[in-house]
Amino acid sequence: MFEAEFPQLRSMTYLDWAAVGVPPLRSIGAVRAYLDMLERDPASAASGAAQAAAKQEARAALAPILGCSPDRIVFTGTSTTSAVQVAVDAVSPSKGDNVVIADMDFPLFYVEAKRLSSRGVEVRVAQNADGDYELDQFYELIDRRTRAVMVSSVIWVNGLRLDVAELAKVAHEAGAYVIVDAIQQAGALRVEADRLGLDFVAVGSQKWLMAPYGVGALCVSRRAVEELSPPRPGYLSLAVKDWDAFWADPSKTPCRVDAGRGGGAKVRVRRHLPSPFPEGAGGQRLADKRAGG
Ligand SMILES: Cc1ncc(COP(=O)(O)O)c(C=O)c1O
Repeated sequence: MFEAEFPQLRSMTYLDWAAVGVPPLRSIGAVRAYLDMLERDPASAASGAAQAAAKQEARAALAPILGCSPDRIVFTGTSTTSAVQVAVDAVSPSKGDNVVIADMDFPLFYVEAKRLSSRGVEVRVAQNADGDYELDQFYELIDRRTRAVMVSSVIWVNGLRLDVAELAKVAHEAGAYVIVDAIQQAGALRVEADRLGLDFVAVGSQKWLMAPYGVGALCVSRRAVEELSPPRPGYLSLAVKDWDAFWADPSKTPCRVDAGRGGGAKVRVRRHLPSPFPEGAGGQRLADKRAGG
């Protein structure tokens, strides 16, 4: 099975240094099958039903790897970076708050920290000693104004595993959230997000998940779903059954975390919007389309 899935490895030895994984034939086959479908039948390939089915399948596959229920996994765009950005924007630290990061961490946290510091957020950096951290160091940095502790579960430069469960405990005692970049872990080791109390776990497809580049995913804790709003909802975030329902009562369109839950913005419109579609027909067509017809 190994040989069949990785024919490339017959002619080379791949020393996996966790930059990109070697995609097995089943990953490449899935992308090819999608491109074939796009060529043959673009309307079906792009239909809401096809997209929803693909996402549902991907969520079900990721859930045991990340250790949370599938309905709390959000696809965030192309990368781990985009997943972390969504988490940071959801937590939305403001002037006077602080965030805690680690000095050996992947540069994406520095970029996020820089963005936050330009808004008046204090950035506190745990300093490594010989490639390791004492947890006490983090404890000293976390206080009541800490909005988020942002770390990787496995540090990219030396493979160090941080005790993210303990960090989450201390962060929660201070009222902060913990945002974990788990791309160096997910697929190689189980993440157990819910059991460890991690509020956000960000991953990308290209390392141990052994898929091509191009998918970011974020697992969101129950607490975060309840307390925070999706920072950049799109039209697919609308919790409406079909577009007729949307036009009929736009005031009842709470945004969800991609898949149907969570608080979030309410669209406040005083009067019903007129449907731009002729009575019945257009709306029905859209409803059919959304249902995959
Ligand atoms: C810890 C860590 N986070 C993020 C990334 C980059 O991931 P992406 O390109 O999916 O944003 C890497 C890549 O090496 C990494 O090691």
